[in-house]
Amino acid sequence: ADSDPLQDFCVADLNATVTVNGFPCKPASAVTSDDFFFDGLSKEGSTDNIFGSSVSRGNVLSFPGVNTLGISMNRVDIAPGGMNAPHWHPRSDESGVVIKGRVLVGFVTTGNVFYSKNLTVGQMFVIPRGLVHFQQNIGKEKALLYTAFNSQNPGAAVASVNLFGTTPSIPNDVLTKAFQVDANVVNGIKSKFESST
Ligand code: GLV
Ligand code: MN
Repeated sequence: ADSDPLQDFCVADLNATVTVNGFPCKPASAVTSDDFFFDGLSKEGSTDNIFGSSVSRGNVLSFPGVNTLGISMNRVDIAPGGMNAPHWHPRSDESGVVIKGRVLVGFVTTGNVFYSKNLTVGQMFVIPRGLVHFQQNIGKEKALLYTAFNSQNPGAAVASVNLFGTTPSIPNDVLTKAFQVDANVVNGIKSKFESST
């Protein structure tokens, strides 16, 4: 989904003072082999959180070598009983493969149709760009997935946090009307997602 590169590579200079759509290239003379390899997806992330999951990202911000290449990958670890909560990527399609465990993968269209399947090791899935999706560990063991994107910076908005954990807070009368619930329900959900700052 990203635009095409205009040179072989353009390793991101994340500290550049100019801002462009993407990142400027660091000088080719400063580029080394290390710029094209990344070990940030090699270790299990901590799933000790309310969702029981962890997403390790190999996007342009962590792996500057993907700048302008239109690709990136994540590692997703999910504890038994956990899930990678409903979220969407505004700038990317997603594909993924289950490496360990049993996982319910699902997404919802703009027309509110829900597509899902229980996957096991080696099985692959695809999530069209921008659509809400999740992965839930439905097994008794840890689950591990790798996901791949056609963007160097897919972006990820988690549905619950994106509405109930904003800064500043969205007014309660918006959320009570939108979800057809009382303010105490909205406050209860907000209390789970509000940042402490
Ligand atoms: C999984 O949905 C991911 O975004 O890596
Ligand atoms: Mn995703």
